[in-house]
Amino acid sequence: MAALQAGVWGVGSLLLLSAAAMAADEPAQEASESAPPSLPEPANGVAYPQGWQDWALVSVSHRTDNATMRVILGNDTAIEAIRAGQTNPWPEGSVLGKVVWKAVSLADWSSAQAPGTFVHAEFMFKGEGQADTGWRWARWVGEAQTPYQLSETECVACHSPVKGRDWVFTTPAPLP
Ligand code: HEC
Repeated sequence: MAALQAGVWGVGSLLLLSAAAMAADEPAQEASESAPPSLPEPANGVAYPQGWQDWALVSVSHRTDNATMRVILGNDTAIEAIRAGQTNPWPEGSVLGKVVWKAVSLADWSSAQAPGTFVHAEFMFKGEGQADTGWRWARWVGEAQTPYQLSETECVACHSPVKGRDWVFTTPAPLP
């Protein structure tokens, strides 16, 4: 009887043990299932700004010469600087993003322009050691977000008309 009991307990303990093992396995499995997809490679040695899709609006723009529409976004530091009216110079840690789409007409209202093909996302990072402008510049192309190889002077040259505005064209859009 004692031997039988021991046998029963033995099986029970085994079941408990394997249930515990399964339970212990579960969180690890969940964690790997919900792990974020890997980020695009750095561009120009600049790390991809994770989570920019959730940043707040700074402004929008529409370029009529190449039929693209853009949103300009800011990270938390940039948005706080806008609210405090301290954007010349922008504080260290500010990141401004510009996200560009081809403009297309809405199928049901052709005079309304809306985002079509994704073109690129590009960013200015304040205070990462670019002594001449105070910004690092980087762009990722297409939905695949392929790092764009550039000489930073390419960005800087075009932004030089607004050197006196800390190299930034955009005036934050008025919001109520
Ligand atoms: C052909 C000229 C030109 C080049 C080259 C250029 N930019 Fe710009 N950029 C602009 C203009 C004009 C604006 C503002 C209007 C708009 O929304 O496009 C702007 C806006 C931006 C903004 C939003 C903040 C701001 O200044 O208004 C970011 C971020 C930006 N550019 C990053 C870059 C990066 C990074 C590069 C290099 C990969 C780059 N730009 C190259 C002309 C240029």
